[in-house]
Amino acid sequence: PSSIPSTTSCWDGCSRKSEETRSVNTTAQRPRVVSGMRPTGKLHLGHLVGALSNWGPLHEKYECLYFVADWHALTSEHAIRKSITSNAIDNVADWISAGVDPERSTLFIQSLVPEHAELALLLSMVVPIPWLERVPTYKEQQEQLTDRDLSTLGFLGYPLLQTADIAVYDGRFVPVGDDQVAHLELSREAIRRFHQYYGEVLVEPQPLLTPVSRLPGLDNRKMSKSYGNTIDLTDDAETVTKKVRQMYTDPKRVRADIPGTVEGNPVFMYHDAFNTNVAEVDDLKARYRAGKVGDVEVKTKLAAAMNAALEPLRARRREVRVKPDHIRELLVEGSRRARVIAQATMERVRDAMKLRY
Ligand code: TRP
Repeated sequence: PSSIPSTTSCWDGCSRKSEETRSVNTTAQRPRVVSGMRPTGKLHLGHLVGALSNWGPLHEKYECLYFVADWHALTSEHAIRKSITSNAIDNVADWISAGVDPERSTLFIQSLVPEHAELALLLSMVVPIPWLERVPTYKEQQEQLTDRDLSTLGFLGYPLLQTADIAVYDGRFVPVGDDQVAHLELSREAIRRFHQYYGEVLVEPQPLLTPVSRLPGLDNRKMSKSYGNTIDLTDDAETVTKKVRQMYTDPKRVRADIPGTVEGNPVFMYHDAFNTNVAEVDDLKARYRAGKVGDVEVKTKLAAAMNAALEPLRARRREVRVKPDHIRELLVEGSRRARVIAQATMERVRDAMKLRY
C-alpha cells in the first residue's frame, strides 16, 4: 500500500499526514475510520455529497467501519411506530450504490453490537450532565422538533452514545459534515475525562471534514426531508428533471436578458457539484452573468448532468435490488466482525476500571 498517495487535497487532516503515512506504509494496521448514519428515511443528495461520496474512497488509506445508527434514530423517533429496519436496509443499499464497497469496508448495525451501549454507560459515569446540555444541537433540536418529546435521557445522551460508537473501535478519524463537529468535541472531552480517571485506554477521534460546501435544498433552504426540498438517491431521471425545473434560482432575474447572480445560486452550486463538463459550466455562468442565457437552458443542462452523474448509482442500485437478502446478510456478518473489535476494546476498558471477577 505504499503507492497510496499520503494526503489528498480534499481532506482536512494534513497536520496528521506523517502519522498517517507511517501507518499506511508499515503494516496492515491502518488507522481506523468510523462513521454512522441514522436510518430516518430516504437518502438524498445531501447525504451523497456530504458523506457517501467521501466514505467510499477512504478504504484505500484507512480501515473503515460504517454503521446504521438505529439507536440514534430512536433518540428522536421513539414515538414512530413504523419499524426503522426497512429504512436501514434501504439506506445501506444506497451506500453501496454510491460506491461504498462492502468487501473493503465493514458495514454493520449499531444495535447488533451491544458493546456500544456498554461503553456509553461506562462513559456516562464520568461525563457531567451540563456538558451534554451545552452541546448546541441539543437545544436547537428541542426548539425545532416541537412535535415530539425530546426531554428524554436518550436524547440528552445522543453525543455520548456517538462517542461510544467511535471509541469502541479506537476510531481515529470520523468523516462527517460540519454539523457534527460539536459532537466530536464532546467526544474528545469525554474521553479525556475518562482517561483522567482510568488511564489512556481509548483514542481521541478527529473529524475528517469534507471541504465541499453544503448543497442547499431545491428551494435554497437547508436540504432536509422535512422541508420536502430534496432530490433523493432513488429518484428516477424524470423526477430529477422535474425537480430541477422547479429549482429556486436568482429571483431578481425575471427575464432571460437580465444579468443574473451565480454566487450562492443553487442551480450553479448544483452545476459545480455534478456537472463534469467544466467548459459548459463556465460558459453558462458567463452568459448568465451577462443576461445571455435563459433559465430553461441552464436547468436542462443541469438535469442532464445530474442524471448522468446519478446513472451509475441507479445501475448499481438495480443490481443490489436483485438480491434482497444479501444486504441483510452482509450487515449481520459485518456486525459480527465489528463486534470482535468492540469486545476487545471492552476487555481493555473493564481492566482499566478494575471490573474483573
Ligand atoms: N450523529 C450522526 C449524524 O446525525 C450519526 C452518528 C451516530 C455518527 N454515531 C456516529 C456519525 C458516530 C459518526 C460517528 O449524522
